Amino acid sequence: MYQCASKIPRPFSLPLIGSALPFMGKSLDTSSIITTLFRTYPGIFKVWFGPKLMVGVSDPKYLEILLPNCIEGILDVWKRHRKILTPTFNQKILNSFTLGTFRKKAFLDYLIEITSEGSSKFTDQELTDEVTTFIIAGSDTTATTNSFVFITLGLHQDMQQKIHEEVMEVVGPSRQVEPADLPHLKYMEMFIKETLRIFPVATLILRDIDVDVDLGDYVIPAGTTAMFGMPWIHTDERHWPDPYKFDPDRFLPEEVSKRDRLAYIPFSYGPRNCIVTNIEFKTIRMKYAMMAMKTLLSTIISKYRISTSYKNVKDVNLKCNMITRPRDGFKFAVELRSPSDRQQSREMGGRAFMM
Ligand code: HEM
Repeated sequence: MYQCASKIPRPFSLPLIGSALPFMGKSLDTSSIITTLFRTYPGIFKVWFGPKLMVGVSDPKYLEILLPNCIEGILDVWKRHRKILTPTFNQKILNSFTLGTFRKKAFLDYLIEITSEGSSKFTDQELTDEVTTFIIAGSDTTATTNSFVFITLGLHQDMQQKIHEEVMEVVGPSRQVEPADLPHLKYMEMFIKETLRIFPVATLILRDIDVDVDLGDYVIPAGTTAMFGMPWIHTDERHWPDPYKFDPDRFLPEEVSKRDRLAYIPFSYGPRNCIVTNIEFKTIRMKYAMMAMKTLLSTIISKYRISTSYKNVKDVNLKCNMITRPRDGFKFAVELRSPSDRQQSREMGGRAFMM
């Protein structure tokens, strides 16, 4: 294993403990150490923790080989469940939640219905596990991304104005947003994608490698744990010139087609990617997650103006654990847009400004 991985770049290492020294001690800040490693060794690096080998990967050409092949987990159960669960996010079912044109069912009811008999029968424990996974994987990720979107809106008042104008043009001032409106909110979508580039909520994806994988330049031996680092993939200057410039136009179709598609993977890639996403040609379609975020954002932005005390995106000091968050909390404020709405809110005892 040692021989096989010998060419992969690595930081300072000691006999027996390998590179574990910086990770030991009271003032352990794993997040900062991992950030330093990904920054110092762009593309790929290795770290030995005694006999355990971990490899950090951020180069799209290696991701293209690794991600589709590392599935991990109890495979037969995962495969069976994934096959059954994926159709629960088809467009017809998603639309039913907002259109009201056919009977709405809660996710659990739908799951019970499709898994009650035959080869797709789920036990009570499997149902509980899947619903818990969906609640955890679905709620924190979208809520955190929405909060980052409020920060980036606060930082870019001109873009916020453009999104407000788009919502007024597509939805108008007096009705609620509907599923048919969502594909027309194109600038909003590019803005959310750019926010997910700089602030991807999933920081590290880990996979155990069970066979030797030849990456061309290097071989990753079986038994290694691979770490895929989203924030560093998304700010690699070879794919993202001036990476901390916030620019939604990076997601114009002509710009997307020039780029390696694995330079942007907020929903991961390969068979184990986010269940509410699918990859179509060179475009990443974000079905349910994007619908949910656009619906919330258009509802809020039609009535409220958002501001923040941050000065720029680099001012947001991130703590990159499993979910990326600002170290000092999400700092943004919302204020009712129109004077009459503000007056009405005060009369009802509400505050026109919240932080
Ligand atoms: C901004 C929103 C979201 C982001 C950025 C996101 C990101 C991700 C990522 C990166 C993974 C892959 C993790 C890995 O490879 O280990 C994942 C998996 C998953 N996500 Fe999401 N997600 C989002 C929203 C949602 C929502 C709304 C749901 C459900 C309603 C959901 C359900 C899942 C499930 C079930 C998995 C596991 C898939 C499997 O193992 O086969 N996610 N998500």
